Amino acid sequence: MAEVVIVKDSIEGGSVAAGLIARLVRRKPDAVLGLATGSTPLSTWQALAKLNLDLSKVRGFALDEYVGLPVGHPQSYRSVISREVVGPLRLTPEFVRVPADSGPLETAGDDYEQAIRDAGGVDLQVLGIGRTGHIGFNEPGSSLASLTRVKTLTEATRTDNARFFDSPDQVPTHCITQGLGTILRAKHLVLLAFGAAKAPALAGAVEGPVTSSLPGSVIQLHPNVTVIADEAAAAELKFADYYRNAWNSRLDWERD
Ligand code: PGA
Repeated sequence: MAEVVIVKDSIEGGSVAAGLIARLVRRKPDAVLGLATGSTPLSTWQALAKLNLDLSKVRGFALDEYVGLPVGHPQSYRSVISREVVGPLRLTPEFVRVPADSGPLETAGDDYEQAIRDAGGVDLQVLGIGRTGHIGFNEPGSSLASLTRVKTLTEATRTDNARFFDSPDQVPTHCITQGLGTILRAKHLVLLAFGAAKAPALAGAVEGPVTSSLPGSVIQLHPNVTVIADEAAAAELKFADYYRNAWNSRLDWERD
């Protein structure tokens, strides 16, 4: 079962997640982080930046990228990662990869998988979850064993992401994303969910059946998952009291 941490708000959630990353980097200064974009991880990056750690040796792999945006477009995930993660955390830009950032699109998925393997695998993967239950851009129906590949976005996700663009029709129709199988290979998954809109997807992911209809449910196949959710996102979790109790009764060695 995933460890589920229910927090007051996204600020507290970001600080819990940043603490997990800090603990990893203190132990392994060249740790490999899986980087998520979107609104959800922002408080994590902000809390981590405040810790003022030397993250210059950390390597990073973004979860996903739009297909079809011009290089340097402010909403490309390469730009978002540079602006919201690499800059504030003072990561080394050359150590941070985004899918399809070099070479032809046709082989970009395999190339990315190889690059992750060459780096020794992802140590800690930060994840958000979409209203559709997607993680990365793995929309409902994605194979639970999928690897990095090009996908078509659902209209629900395009609508959700339209807020970042001047008009909804500018949201790309395609993306390239780490697969659910890729995500499962990371050593530790940290799934963040904030706000009431995420409550049904989060409950399905944590407590529902494992199904490609709700891609986030694949986390139940992973042995080392931390879910960090605020009260609103946790509202539909059946075992919320148990999760609170388990978190509050952590043993000393589980607390550092
Ligand atoms: P959000 O997106 O952080 O912008 O809510 C999460 C996701 O779609 O994975």
